[in-house]
This record gives sequence, C-alpha cells and structure tokens, in this order.
Amino acid sequence: MIARMATNPLPQFPPGFLWGVSTSAHQIEGAADERDPSVWDAFTAEPGRIKDGSTAEVACDHYHRYPEDVALLAGLGVDAYRFSVSWPRVNSPGGLDFYDRLVDELCAADVRPVPTLFHWDLPLELDWMSRDTAARFADHAAVVAERLGDRVKKWITLNEPAEHTLLGHALGAHAPGRRLLFDALPVAHHQLLAHGLAVRALRAAGADDIGIANSHGPTWAASRRTEDVEAADFYDVLLNRLFADPLLLGRYPEGIGELLPGDVESDLKVIAEPLDWYGVNYYQPTKVGAPEGAEIEFSGLTLPADLPFSVRELEGYPVTDFGWPVVPEALTELLVGLRERYGDRLPPVVITENGCSYEGIDDQERIAFLDGHLRALHRALEQGVDVRGYFVWSLMDNFEWAEGYARRFGLVHVDYDTLERTPKASYAWLRDALRTQARR
Ligand code: BGC
Ligand code: BGC
Repeated sequence: MIARMATNPLPQFPPGFLWGVSTSAHQIEGAADERDPSVWDAFTAEPGRIKDGSTAEVACDHYHRYPEDVALLAGLGVDAYRFSVSWPRVNSPGGLDFYDRLVDELCAADVRPVPTLFHWDLPLELDWMSRDTAARFADHAAVVAERLGDRVKKWITLNEPAEHTLLGHALGAHAPGRRLLFDALPVAHHQLLAHGLAVRALRAAGADDIGIANSHGPTWAASRRTEDVEAADFYDVLLNRLFADPLLLGRYPEGIGELLPGDVESDLKVIAEPLDWYGVNYYQPTKVGAPEGAEIEFSGLTLPADLPFSVRELEGYPVTDFGWPVVPEALTELLVGLRERYGDRLPPVVITENGCSYEGIDDQERIAFLDGHLRALHRALEQGVDVRGYFVWSLMDNFEWAEGYARRFGLVHVDYDTLERTPKASYAWLRDALRTQARR
C-alpha cells in the first residue's frame, strides 16, 4: 500500500519522544465467553442502545489474533503500544495469562507495553456510585502489577473518567446507561479516588512511571456575551478541570467539593499523589453558549434542555465521518493552555489518544488529520510545553461503543466478516514518517 499523499517531512521531535498507537480491551478483544461480564455487555444487550445493533462478543478477535496484531505494530515501527487490561477478564480464571502472553509478544517485538488499568468495562457487579469500588480498583491494580510489573514499566490508571462519568452516568449514552445528570458527581470522585489508590498500589509494587489518560479539548464561547462566556466556563470546568484540578492541584474547582459526601479533603491528598506524566486524549474543541431551552443533538447524544449550557455546532471546519470538526491548531492551544493553567504542577505530557473516523482503506483524510495534528503538537513543543509522546487512536478499526462498528478509527482496516486486517494508506504514511525521525 502506497501513501500517495505527498506531505512534507514532519518536523523533528526530540530524541526519546515516544511514538505509539492505542486500543482498548472491550473494543478489540472479543472472546467475551472467556471472561466475566462487564457493564458494557449488559448495556449492549438492552435493545436500542448500540446504533447498529452489534455487540463486542467477537469484535476484532484480538484475544486470539494478538500475534498478528503485534506483528502489525512491529511493522509500523512504533516504540509503544497502549492497550487496556480488562478488569472482568483479570477476575476470570486464566484471564491474566492472556496479558502475560501479550506482553511477552510485545517485548519480543521490541514494542513497549503501556497498559491502561480501566477503560470503561467495569465488572458487572461493581458500581462507581459506591465508594468501595475505588478500593477494589486498587486491588485490581496490585494484581496486574504483581504479574506484569517485571516487563511493564509505563502504566496508565484510568481512561477518560470524564467521558465515563458524563456519557455513562450523567447522560446514559454509554454503559451503565444511567441518566443521573449532576447527581453523577460521586462517580467522578470515586474514579479519582480509585486513581490515587491505584497510584499508591503501583508504586508499592515498584512502578515509577505512572500516568492517567484524561480527555481534554478547548472550550470556545459562542460569543463574548456574558451568558455565553459563563456557560462556556461552566462546561470547561466539567470537561477540563473537574478531573485535572484535583489531580494536579489537590482541590476541586470552586463549588464542587461541597457537593460531595465524606471527608473530601483527606481523599484529595490521595487523589493528588504526584504523577510521573499526564496523558491527554484530544479529539476536538467544543463551542458552548448559554442554554437555549431545548434538547440538542450533539456527537450522537441527546442533551437535556435544562443544562446550564448548550453545545453549538462549530462551523467552518472540515468534519470527519463522525461529524467531528478537524481543528489541529486547537491541540496547540489546549497544551499551551494547560501549561498556563497548571504551571509547574503539570508533569510532562503524553498525548495518549488522537485520531479520527473515516471510511475507506485509501484514507487520505486520516493522513491529513495526523499530519496536521503532529505539526500542531510540534508547535506546542516549540512554545515550551514538555510533551514526551504521541499515541494514535487507534491501531485498528474496532467497536466504537454506542456507535457499534459504524465508525472506523483504525490505521488498519478490519473486515468484520472475515476478521482480515488490511493496513490503510495512513499506516504506510505513519511508518514512513517515523523513519524520517531521528528517534533515539
Ligand atoms: C469526545 C471524545 C469521546 C466522544 C464519545 C467526543 O465529543 O471528544 O473524546 O470519545 O465524544 O462519543
Ligand atoms: C475513547 C476511545 C474511543 C475514542 C473515539 C475516546 O474517548 O477513549 O475508547 O474509541 O475516544 O470516540
């Protein structure tokens, strides 16, 4: 496969910059009958929840085909592979053996394993509304570290607790399908506590390179009118500060801590356990204005009319097949903004996810997307942001949550009938781009 699009060589990233790709367990593994159920299995079984009526029972069958997938990683020439460890699989007999084999295969291919300990597939019997789930997560972290810690050096605790809270518990568009709106706040707090306890458990097991993968994107006010600016600030707190402030500053944004039960101050000491690096998942900026008093459709979600903000369509940019605007320069803005907001409290940053959904194997749009975002990332480096790595979402097409298989984010195409993998033009482009980097 030849990448036709003639792009200029990318600027040089610093030596030691970590190049990788990401996936998650529930989205690719399949082999659902060889593990305990998760909240996503139950959610998927409810009629109408998944747009194309599909399930993740087989997905990409990565559980059985992982040697082929590791060979694809090696062919791509990445330094690292970010995957997630399914908690319900770890809880099942022999479940950890799978990750043991996967990590061995990665090490043999000279690709560094970077596991995420939770990427939304909560064991069915657990509930983030319960504080005890945080302690259970720390136990899970300890079990995995005990088994894989001799070969895994870089760890990620949680993936996007903001999306898991918002989509899963506030709006009900993701598992477990609750629509608690602002009553979902304990879900945020318990995930943060789980993160802090897991950091301690990982350190106790000898780990010293620990991060989290948080979703971030600039919030743009719909206008300079006070009502729009205030609504945008509120949205910004939910998306960009609700998790980052406790993690990096040891406090909740104003007005939030008071809404939580229990001894929040002492929890915050656990939550703010210093991180070795900070993971940022970036997809798009969001335009937000004052409430408009009507339900809105946004990113496949129906947002209720009584929220204190409304999400507006961002016009004037190309969009992906998912309808998400393509705004590479917002990545520079985001990173410079994080550094301004958190100063020395911001650890070195790794982009743990960035990518786009497009149909087709000759995916020139994905090449343009990646090229644009890598240049924008380089501009953040030039402006002094300490960025240490970049992971593309995703290695291969997979189960895109409530969208089912309709959205294709992969560098590698997956035929869901035959499970055949076909590298797309963007795979060849990234492989060639990495060859022009000095790397070490
Ligand atoms: C966010 C993504 C998220 C998606 C969920 C988007 O608005 O930018 O990070 O995965 O919504 O559907
Ligand atoms: C999630 C991924 C998801 C991607 C695209 C991120 O929010 O971590 O699981 O597939 O966005 O929506």
